[in-house]
Amino acid sequence: MPGPENHDAAQLRLFCRLMLGSADAADRVLRQIHRRAPDGPDEHPSDRARLFRMAADLCGVRRPGPKRRIMHIGVIGATGTVGSRIVTEALDRGHQVTAFSRDASGIEDGRENIRWKNLDATDSGAIAGILPRLDVLISGSGAGNAAKDPTEPGIHAREAAALLTALEGRLRVRLIVVGGAASLEARPGVVFAGSDELLDAAVLRGHDEALNLFRASDRLWTYLSPAGEIAPGERTGRFRIGGDQPVTDAGGRSRISAEDAAVAVLDEVELPRFVQRRFTIGY
Ligand SMILES: NC(=O)c1ccc[n+]([C@@H]2O[C@H](COP(=O)([O-])OP(=O)(O)OC[C@H]3O[C@@H](n4cnc5c(N)ncnc54)[C@H](OP(=O)(O)O)[C@@H]3O)[C@@H](O)[C@H]2O)c1
Repeated sequence: MPGPENHDAAQLRLFCRLMLGSADAADRVLRQIHRRAPDGPDEHPSDRARLFRMAADLCGVRRPGPKRRIMHIGVIGATGTVGSRIVTEALDRGHQVTAFSRDASGIEDGRENIRWKNLDATDSGAIAGILPRLDVLISGSGAGNAAKDPTEPGIHAREAAALLTALEGRLRVRLIVVGGAASLEARPGVVFAGSDELLDAAVLRGHDEALNLFRASDRLWTYLSPAGEIAPGERTGRFRIGGDQPVTDAGGRSRISAEDAAVAVLDEVELPRFVQRRFTIGY
């Protein structure tokens, strides 16, 4: 199901696609429009800025008033490789962040617009308790990931179930989950997680199970399957977006930096395009 895009935005997307010849190129331009259109009055905007503004108005991404809409974003797994970068990207864009760790007691963070709280992603009651303050809840929880714990393969599904249960009372809060790439399709209809070489990779299967729970739900979920290789690196803001199959580079590698994964997540927060859908990214 396509994300909630207004009529003008859909027209502009179609126009860009026709002019530029591909959906990827249209996505890139729309992201630029969204990110660069300056807010508020500017007495002498450059031609380029004026153009981005016009396009942003058409897209409906430039809100009236002096500031773009600031959102309150919760980040589970905020101490993690991807989660910490999501927090930084959200703060850099001016949003309010509540960052969660299972034990936030020793965390000192001098940045503005952030507060830290304790949360376990398997505790639906605790998650329900934090939702009233949030516009969007992002989970970058990597339970079972670092430990590669085969005795707890169901952890991702348990977290997914807890998140979905908590959202029953808050249907308007969006959920964005950074999950696994193994549920992407190696070829149409065949997922990596189902291949024989990965029979022991219970954690990878767990992600797949979690994704299926989201797919069966009617909440406002979005699932990001990062590239096959994701590691700390550079924030380039330039990557390609895909659906159920990995986005690979010229050498056939599916890779992304954790910084660019955070850009993709915040782009999705600000301009929803994958509500009730999974997407992936890669260079
Ligand atoms: N290619 C791929 O498919 C690929 C590769 C890497 C990662 N990933 C996925 O991407 C996501 C983020 O990975 P990452 O590398 O950033 O993981 P990470 O560095 O291991 O961090 C994950 C964070 O999750 C938190 N966490 C663990 N159990 C939790 C629980 N029960 N409740 C709440 N928080 C919990 C931990 O924070 P605290 O200890 O502070 O609570 C930890 O800092 C994960 O879903 C991971 O599986 C996918």
